[in-house]
Amino acid sequence: MTLRNTRERWGAVSQAFHWLIVLLILVLAIAGLVMDDLPRTPKYFWVYTAHKSLGITVLALMLARLGWRLYAGAPAPVAGTPGWQAAIASLTHWLLYAVALAMPLSGWLYDSASGLRPFRYFGQFAVPKLVAPSEWLADAAREAHGLLFWVLVALVAAHAGAAFYHHLFQRDDTLLRMLPARGARARSGQEP
Ligand code: HEM
Ligand code: HEM
Repeated sequence: MTLRNTRERWGAVSQAFHWLIVLLILVLAIAGLVMDDLPRTPKYFWVYTAHKSLGITVLALMLARLGWRLYAGAPAPVAGTPGWQAAIASLTHWLLYAVALAMPLSGWLYDSASGLRPFRYFGQFAVPKLVAPSEWLADAAREAHGLLFWVLVALVAAHAGAAFYHHLFQRDDTLLRMLPARGARARSGQEP
C-alpha cells in the first residue's frame, strides 16, 4: 500500500490518521460523558487531565491531518456515485474537519477562561492558557463544547451510516478503500 492517496484509494497515512482519530474521539467522548459523575477522589482530577491531554493530542493530529489532506488530495469518487452524493460526502468530510478541530479548541478555551491552574500535558509540561480568565467566555466555551459534541455525533452517524450503506447495499469499495489493501482486492474481483 502506498503512503500517498491514489485515484482509487486512501493511502496509509490518511488511513492511519482516520482510524487513530476515530479511536481517540471515542475514548474522549466516553471520558467526557462520565467524568463529571466520578467520585471526587484524586482519580477524578487524573481523568480530567487525561481528557484534556488527549483532547490536545487530537487537535495536533487533526491539524497534521488537514495539512496532509491538502497536500495529498483525495481519491476520485467511487465509480457510479451520482454527483450529488459525492458533493454531500465531500461537504460532510469538511464539516467533520471543522467540528473535530472546534471540539478540542472549545475545550481548551473553556479550560483557559475558567482560570484554573494550568494543567500538565500527561503530567509533562504546563499547557499555556489561550485567554485571560473570563466567566462569560468560560460559560460560552463550555456550552459550545457540549453542543459541538452532539453535532459531531450527528455528523458521524450520517457519515458512518453512509459508509456501511455503501458496503452492505451498494456493495462498492467506499469502506474498503479506507481499510488496508487486502480487503479492497476482495471486492475488485482479484480473489481466487
Ligand atoms: C476531540 C476532542 C474532545 C472531545 C471529543 C471531547 C468530548 C467531551 C465531552 C463529550 C464532554 C462532556 C460534555 C457534556 O457533558 O456536556 C466533555 C467535557 C469536557 N471537556 Fe472535552 N473533549 C475534547 C477535547 C477537550 C480538550 C482539548 C479540553 C481541554 C483542554 C477538554 C476539556 C473538557 C472539560 C473541562 C469538560 C467538562 C465540562 C463540564 O464541566 O461540563 N475537552 N468533553
Ligand atoms: C465508525 C465510524 C466511521 C466510519 C465507518 C468511517 C468511514 C469512513 C470512510 C469509508 C471514509 C472514506 C470515504 C470515501 O472514500 O469517500 C471516511 C472518510 C473520512 N472520515 Fe470517516 N468514518 C468513521 C468515523 C469518522 C469520524 C469520527 C471522523 C471525525 C473526524 C471521520 C472523518 C472523516 C474524514 C474527514 C474523511 C475524509 C478523509 C480524510 O480527509 O481523511 N470519520 N470515513
